[in-house]
Amino acid sequence: MIRGPRPLVAGNWKMNGLRSSLAEVAAICEAVAAGRAGRAEVVVCPPATLLMAAAALCEKSKVGVGGQDCHAEPGGAFTGDISAQMLRDAGAAFVILGHSERRSGHRETNAMVQAKVKTALRAGLSAIVCVGETRAEREAGNALPVVGAQLAGSIPEDAPPEGIVVAYEPVWAIGTGIIAKPDEIAAMHGFIRGEAGRRLAGQRAGARILYGGSVKPANAKEVLSLENVDGALVGGASLNCAEFMEIAAFYRQVT
Ligand code: PGA
Repeated sequence: MIRGPRPLVAGNWKMNGLRSSLAEVAAICEAVAAGRAGRAEVVVCPPATLLMAAAALCEKSKVGVGGQDCHAEPGGAFTGDISAQMLRDAGAAFVILGHSERRSGHRETNAMVQAKVKTALRAGLSAIVCVGETRAEREAGNALPVVGAQLAGSIPEDAPPEGIVVAYEPVWAIGTGIIAKPDEIAAMHGFIRGEAGRRLAGQRAGARILYGGSVKPANAKEVLSLENVDGALVGGASLNCAEFMEIAAFYRQVT
């Protein structure tokens, strides 16, 4: 029985990858064409310099490409920034917004993330909106309210659920090799399902909810089989086709 929306496995390359890394993109396309991701949708988010080349490689495959950020304004005098329309023009269908590395390193607030999400949706992109608590917030018992506030502040009221993917990424699990416990993930994803359902009202299927933070081949099965987990946002392990596809291969066994 197929339950929930189509799963999504997205790779976030961050500021990693040079032209030579496009070989990994080509290998991912081959693996997906060979059915190694089952019914999951696979998306690669390389650095902006590789986007056009990655999109060209993926054009004839079922692999999508995404950007890692965009500006809230549609265009103009913003040196060094990239617009949602530029990502779309380069061949992207997705953009990651509100990643914790941008929330902390670039002081992005929920309001800023929401403005970016609106611009991205207007440009025809789907937004992968990242939320997640810090270790201190979890230890203080505030994980749910923190994530609730991030969802309420970052996702526009009228956003179409098919244009929104929520990625729950506990900050303390990103790049640390420490993954949240199954009961923590299940509780948070159930909470997000309810909150997103309320915000994106009237929509039956609802937004997809990904888990992110130290997802590796060794823990993928445990995470991806949890209720309300519709896929993964993968950082480090997405840089290598073999590792990334081993994670996506979970969906070969699931119909
Ligand atoms: P990680 O990163 O898989 O390397 O922990 C995930 C992310 O930041 O999206």
